[in-house]
Amino acid sequence: RRKLFIPQIRKFSKYKSACHYSTNENLNKISTKTAENFIPFLQRIDIRRTEARRSIIVQVQSAKSYKELWSYCSTFGAIKSMFHYSVGIDPSHFIIVEFENESIVSSIMNSSNYSEGGSGMPTQSNFMWFKAANNKLKLKDNKNANLSVEFGTDIQLEEEIKVALGNSENVSEQIRKLHELTRLNDVGVRLRFLTALQIENAITGMFPHATAYPFGSSVNGYGKTGCDLDLFLKLSNDKRHDNGRLVFHCKPLNSSERSTTQRHMEVIGDLIHLFLPGCGHVRRILQARVPIIKYHQQLTDVECDVSMSNMSGVHMSDFLYIMGELDDRVRPLVFTIRNWAKTVGITNSAPGRWITNFSLTLLVLAFLQNPPSGKPVIPTLNKLEEQAGKSDKFALEDGTDVSFLRDITKYKQKTKNTDSLERLLMEFFVYYSQFDFDNKAICLNDTVAIAKPEHSAMYIINPLERGLNVSKNVSFEEVLRFKNELKNAAWILESKEPKTANWGLLSIMQGPKVVNMFQKLSTRTKPSRLVEIKSIFDDNENESKSPEKKVKSD
Ligand code: GTP
Ligand code: MG
Repeated sequence: RRKLFIPQIRKFSKYKSACHYSTNENLNKISTKTAENFIPFLQRIDIRRTEARRSIIVQVQSAKSYKELWSYCSTFGAIKSMFHYSVGIDPSHFIIVEFENESIVSSIMNSSNYSEGGSGMPTQSNFMWFKAANNKLKLKDNKNANLSVEFGTDIQLEEEIKVALGNSENVSEQIRKLHELTRLNDVGVRLRFLTALQIENAITGMFPHATAYPFGSSVNGYGKTGCDLDLFLKLSNDKRHDNGRLVFHCKPLNSSERSTTQRHMEVIGDLIHLFLPGCGHVRRILQARVPIIKYHQQLTDVECDVSMSNMSGVHMSDFLYIMGELDDRVRPLVFTIRNWAKTVGITNSAPGRWITNFSLTLLVLAFLQNPPSGKPVIPTLNKLEEQAGKSDKFALEDGTDVSFLRDITKYKQKTKNTDSLERLLMEFFVYYSQFDFDNKAICLNDTVAIAKPEHSAMYIINPLERGLNVSKNVSFEEVLRFKNELKNAAWILESKEPKTANWGLLSIMQGPKVVNMFQKLSTRTKPSRLVEIKSIFDDNENESKSPEKKVKSD
C-alpha cells in the first residue's frame, strides 16, 4: 500500500526539458521532434490551453499532502497527473492537479467554498487551498497516486551546470547542455497557461469569447526557467454567424482606437489588482507603442505583461517557434547567446537603450539565414511566405498580411549546412563584430543587403510589420559596446585551450559574471525546490492542515 509510483524522479531534474513529465501523448512527441511529430504552433497552444482548463492549482501544507489531496480530488473524478512546486525562499507549497477532463474541474468549482468568515473577494478561480479535514479523511487505496516532484537546489544546479560544461567534450556539447539544463520545463509551461487562464476566466462573464493568448518566450521555445509571460488578451473571436438575424446590442466605440484601448486596459488593470487572487504589483504602461499592463502572479511566481492591441506578438512567436523547430541547432545557439549577452551586460531585464532578448534572437536568426559558409541553416521569411497554403492565411487587425507556411513538415528544402554549434557561435561573434550597423539594416525576410531607411543606431526590420524597427530603442553607445563584447568573446573563445580551467563557454561567461548568469534562476519560482523525497515515502500521516501561511494577494 505504501509503495507509491513516482515516475522518472531524477536528481536535479528541475530544469530538464519541457514535457518531461507530461502524460499527454501529443506533447510528449514534442520533446523528440521529427518532421512527422511536429505540432503547429497554434495547435500546440490549444493543447496546452485545454490541459490548463482541466487543471487546478492547490496550495498545500507541504509536498507530503499529495496523498490526501489525491484521495480527496479523486472523489470528483479521475486524476491524470500531479506536479509539486514551491514559491519563495521560505517556500509555500503548491500542487497542480490535472484531471482527465474539464467537467471534473467544473464539479470541483461548484462544490468548493470561499474563505471562512466571508473575508476576501468572493472570486472563483483555478487557484485554491486545501483546508484541514474536520474528520480525519479515510485514505483510499491510492497506489496509483503519483506526484512529479522535481528537486535540487539552485546552488546545486549552478554547480551542475558548471560541472556539465566543464566535463563536455567540446563547445558544441557545452551549448547543448546549457540549453537542456536551463530551458523552461513542463511545470513552468503549465504554470504560465494556468496564469493565462485565470485572467481569461475572470472576464468571460462579460466577454464569453475572450481569449488570453500566451506568446513570447513562454511558448516560442526560447524561454528559460523563470521567464516572463507575455499575454495578448482578445475580447472577441473572429467567428461570425453571418446568417443570424439577431444581433447583440454593443456599446459604440466612439473615441480613437488607441485611447479606447488604453481606457480598457486601465479597467483590466484595476480588475487584476482588485479582484484576482495572487495578482499584485500592477503597473500600467499605457503610453508605450504597445500599451501593456504588468503584474505579478504570486501563486505561480510568474511576471506577466498583458497587451490588447494586436495579434502580431502571437504570429511573431509562431515565426520564432517554426525557426526553432526547423533545425535543432537554433534554440541551443539562441540560448547560449542570450545567456552570454546577459552575463556581459549587453541585455538587461529593465527596459532601456540596450538590445532586448527579442532583438538579439532576431540577430541570431538573421545570421543563421545567411552564415558566412553561404549555406543557410534556416530559410528566410519570404521562402515561408511563398509556400503558405490556405490554412496559413492570417492578417493583423490593421490588415497587415502575416501569412506564411506554419506546418514545416511541408517545407521541402532541407538545409545543407552541417556546421557545428561551436563553429556557428564563433562565426556569430565575428559576423556581428564586423557588421556595418551604420549603413545596413538587418532583414529576416530576404538575404539581400538592405540600406538603413533611417538613422537609428541599429535597424532590425520587423519581419511581420516591415515599416517598424524592432531595435529602435538601441543607442549608438550600446551598439559600440555590443561590437566590443563580440570581439572579446571571439578572441577569448579562440585563445582558450579546451579542458583548461574555465574553458569554452565558461571562459566567456566567467568570473563574477557566471554568478549573474544564474541569478535569475535562483531568485525566481522554484518549481522544484529541494524536497526530501525520502520523507514523502516514509511519512504517512495526515498532512493536509490548512497552510500556515497563505501567499498574500495584493
Ligand atoms: P524574454 O521575455 O526576455 O524571455 O524574451 P521574449 O522573446 O519573451 O521577449 P519579450 O518579452 O520582450 O517580448 C515578447 C514578444 O513580444 C516577442 O517574442 C515578440 O514577439 C514581441 N516583441 C517584443 N518586442 C518587440 C518589438 O520591439 N517589436 C515588435 N513588433 N514585437 C516585439
Ligand atoms: Mg517575454
